Amino acid sequence: MNPKSNKENHWGSIMRRVASLLLVCGLVTSVTAAEKAFRPGEVWPDNNGVHINCHGGGILVHNGTFYWFGQHMIEGRPGNLAQVGVHVYSSKNLYDWKDEGIALRVSEDPQSDIAKGCILERPKVIYNRKTDKFVMWFHLELKGKGYRAARSGVAVADQVTGPYRFIESFRPNAGVWPINVPDELKEPLPAEGGPAPKFLFQRDHVGGQMARDMTLFVDDDDTAYHVYASEGNGTLHISQLTDDYLRPAGKYARVFPDCFNEAPAMFKHAGKYYLITSGCSGWKANAARLGVADSIWGPWQALGNPCVGEDAELTFHGQSTYVLPVPGKTGAFIFMADRWKPGNPIDGKHLWLPIQFKDGKPFVAWLDKWDLSFFK
Ligand code: DGJ
Repeated sequence: MNPKSNKENHWGSIMRRVASLLLVCGLVTSVTAAEKAFRPGEVWPDNNGVHINCHGGGILVHNGTFYWFGQHMIEGRPGNLAQVGVHVYSSKNLYDWKDEGIALRVSEDPQSDIAKGCILERPKVIYNRKTDKFVMWFHLELKGKGYRAARSGVAVADQVTGPYRFIESFRPNAGVWPINVPDELKEPLPAEGGPAPKFLFQRDHVGGQMARDMTLFVDDDDTAYHVYASEGNGTLHISQLTDDYLRPAGKYARVFPDCFNEAPAMFKHAGKYYLITSGCSGWKANAARLGVADSIWGPWQALGNPCVGEDAELTFHGQSTYVLPVPGKTGAFIFMADRWKPGNPIDGKHLWLPIQFKDGKPFVAWLDKWDLSFFK
């Protein structure tokens, strides 16, 4: 056999292999690139190939771009405390997310309300048209005090991705009575001493209402609301914000008293307000709850668990965090939830599922994989 042709054969076969490898890689790449889909509960890589670190979060749509804000978690048990701050990602299509860094950083100053090691949960950002500022609210627990502080934190920025400047934290609605309690209950009770009050809002009237799990909701008329778990998590409050979105406006209602709702997420469809919440079982999943009202001030009607199918009684092992109306698609909403991993919080997964309607009532069913074409 001619040694030259043997050599050529050898190189030829290598080249053919390389070519077919490139072809396969090319095909794989194009399949991956074309396959835009949500895969609830799976690792969701950002533009750097790193799982999106954005937990208990919410989404702001601004100038045609989506901005996803959430808790930055780190590995191990200490990751349940705020060691870094609030992470922000941007996207044009809801599938591909670019890491935009830390929007609000916790403080190295141990005296700061947001000192590193505090608990900073469920951050939400809204844009104020009048002031041209981006306003962030979050649930804040002061460092070393467990979940006793039950405060709201507020931060503001000129640019959507930050940096956000922490302004203050407080218990909302000090000195204000809820709009939906009878006059005979509008009697402040001492914060300490005496019998345990039946209504914690009376005890907290002077110092401000407890505020833990929370969301923000901006209505069609730009009025913004803070929805938070209050009264020892027993009762939700819906509280109007001032025109600049920086403070409570002094009007709030008690919603679902003594029902122990957490993780509120609000949306509006066909003139009705909807609230999806969880029950109250720490990091463990429980059944979601759906509420509806014709006015944001109520009365609110409980509609039961919106989730259907296998694991519906555990919200598919997740907990609500936000409902995103899909821009430009009437009646299209994405239910966003967290699958918490308190042993290694950085490993928490995101559950995004479409909200569907049956006879006008919202429900959420599991899908392994779906995309925006689901919304007709
Ligand atoms: C449930 C809440 O929904 C979470 O945000 C967090 O506060 C955990 N409880 C802590 O146990």
